Amino acid sequence: MLKVYRGEILHFLADPAKVALEQSYQHFADGLLVIEDGKVKQLGEASNLLATLPGGVEVTHYQNGLIMPGFIDTHIHYPQTEMIASYGEQLLEWLENYTFPAERRFEDEAYAKDVAEFFLDQLLDAGTTTALVFGTVHKQSVDAFFTVAQQKKLRMICGKVLMDRNCPDFLTDTAETGFNDSKALIEKWHNTDRLQYAVTPRFAPTSTREQLDKAGELLSLYPDVYMHTHLCENKKEIEWVQALFPESKGYLDVYDQSNLLGRRSVFAHGVHLHDEECQRLSDTGSAIAFCPTSNLFLGSGLFNLKQAEEYDVNVGMGTDVGAGTSFSILHSLNEAYKIQQLRGEKLTPFKSFYLSTLGGAVALDLEDKIGNLAPGKEADFIVLDYHATPLMQRRMKQCKTLHEKLFVLSMLGDERSVCATHILGERV
Ligand code: GUN
Ligand code: ZN
Repeated sequence: MLKVYRGEILHFLADPAKVALEQSYQHFADGLLVIEDGKVKQLGEASNLLATLPGGVEVTHYQNGLIMPGFIDTHIHYPQTEMIASYGEQLLEWLENYTFPAERRFEDEAYAKDVAEFFLDQLLDAGTTTALVFGTVHKQSVDAFFTVAQQKKLRMICGKVLMDRNCPDFLTDTAETGFNDSKALIEKWHNTDRLQYAVTPRFAPTSTREQLDKAGELLSLYPDVYMHTHLCENKKEIEWVQALFPESKGYLDVYDQSNLLGRRSVFAHGVHLHDEECQRLSDTGSAIAFCPTSNLFLGSGLFNLKQAEEYDVNVGMGTDVGAGTSFSILHSLNEAYKIQQLRGEKLTPFKSFYLSTLGGAVALDLEDKIGNLAPGKEADFIVLDYHATPLMQRRMKQCKTLHEKLFVLSMLGDERSVCATHILGERV
């Protein structure tokens, strides 16, 4: 069964920082997207493709909108949904005062399911169709998440948090139980439908060396599972890591010594990285999740996107809810632009939308499945409304170029701008 959508279409083919701008994207002012069995069959100019369709096929026409691939959120915590916007602290105190108590509730699987349901609907409302997601230390938090994601036919990656020290007793696992619970979850869920597992040590301070080594062991037992953690977010955190692991050369090296770097390893933040660390991330194909609203909210620092580009490190966008203050990738692009302004750098709207789609897919090693609308890709796509608010309607009238329109979308856009989200070609 064919599903056909017509409208303005934009997607990326490459990083605009690496190729000539015209080669980095395809833009069809009046395009056609043809989908069969949940995958893209054809993409092109409506004037060329309409005549090739079999008779009687229905065409859904989106006007005043922009069809693009669904956003990819490369770092978010579903258990922190109900504690978003908690006042007054930087990272370590924020974890103690707000995060750990909130995560305790996920020992109750029914509660976890209820939050997962709400969380995934928030993502879809914001136009995010794939995310790399933290659970809690409880294995039932991951069962709950995957159960709901599977019902919604979503491509999602999640994992049980590993933490065996420096956290409250009620959230502590051991190197042994963390390993066994993760292994059982991998066997149960990894590569089931569109679900994949991420081995998830919270961050270096909450794991012993023994636990990190066991995480590395899991990655060697299951080479296509992900590794998801935090890295160099906050200055006090970095000092603490150095004190806890005096034998390591630096924060990234703590993970490296346990064999946790690789093509499917994603490190949230990386706000304070040395050049050698960027080189090592690049050499191993590891990725950084750039989380602008979180980095500003917790006062963590200004991410150096230019440094990541210079070292050719994979970067995706992350919201990092609940330290992040919005589920919206558009809102994150707004803050990302301002962070780069404060660094004296310009973040172009082409780069922004690349990072939110294909760049995120590359960061997650999923560029053969999602990230753009090339034939064969899974048809997760959204429709952005240029006229979502009266202000946007007025502002858009002044825009002459795609560059301008994308920039306005990224500055004024949020959930209100997402007028439709499609999963495997079906509107949800
Ligand atoms: N570092 C360790 N845990 C967390 C967390 O839950 N959120 C953020 N932003 N950083 C962390
Ligand atoms: Zn985080």
